[in-house]
Amino acid sequence: MERTFVMIKPDAVRRKLVGEIIRRFEVRGIDIIAIKMLTVSQELAEKHYAVHQGKPFYAPLVEFVVSGPVVAMVLEADDAVRLARNMIGALKPSDAMPGTIRGDLTTDTQRNLIHGADSPETAAAEIALWFPELQEPAES
Ligand code: GTP
Ligand code: MG
Repeated sequence: MERTFVMIKPDAVRRKLVGEIIRRFEVRGIDIIAIKMLTVSQELAEKHYAVHQGKPFYAPLVEFVVSGPVVAMVLEADDAVRLARNMIGALKPSDAMPGTIRGDLTTDTQRNLIHGADSPETAAAEIALWFPELQEPAES
């Protein structure tokens, strides 16, 4: 089993798509290990997107993520990082396939509803950043 981090972004909360997005993970059979709604601080947003620092979309991206509440989750499944990324769909709207969250529900590159960790290493770092209270899974 693997854990991944996903974050339902402010646009999805505003559009009342939180239930729709969580439903997709649940009916797929993915376990929700932790979940919380929060308004992100500037500091957390900057740390979360630090990899994009210096890019033209960085400042607007941070501003967008702090613009309203988000729903942060830890998901668990076999190959959870890849599974969640495939369910989320591509960043470029015209490449996001129908059947994916972005492919069904948005045409906007920035207001793209949800973030998913892009590697097991990133997932571990993001889980530690967003859920410091969460225990590491026991070795099996
Ligand atoms: P996340 O799961 O949110 O990390 O998306 P991603 O992994 O599909 O994309 P990436 O990590 O490359 O970019 C992070 C976020 O920055 C995206 O989800 C977008 O919100 C935003 N972003 C990335 N590239 C662009 C861009 O060219 N223009 C704009 N406006 N936003 C961008
Ligand atoms: Mg990314």
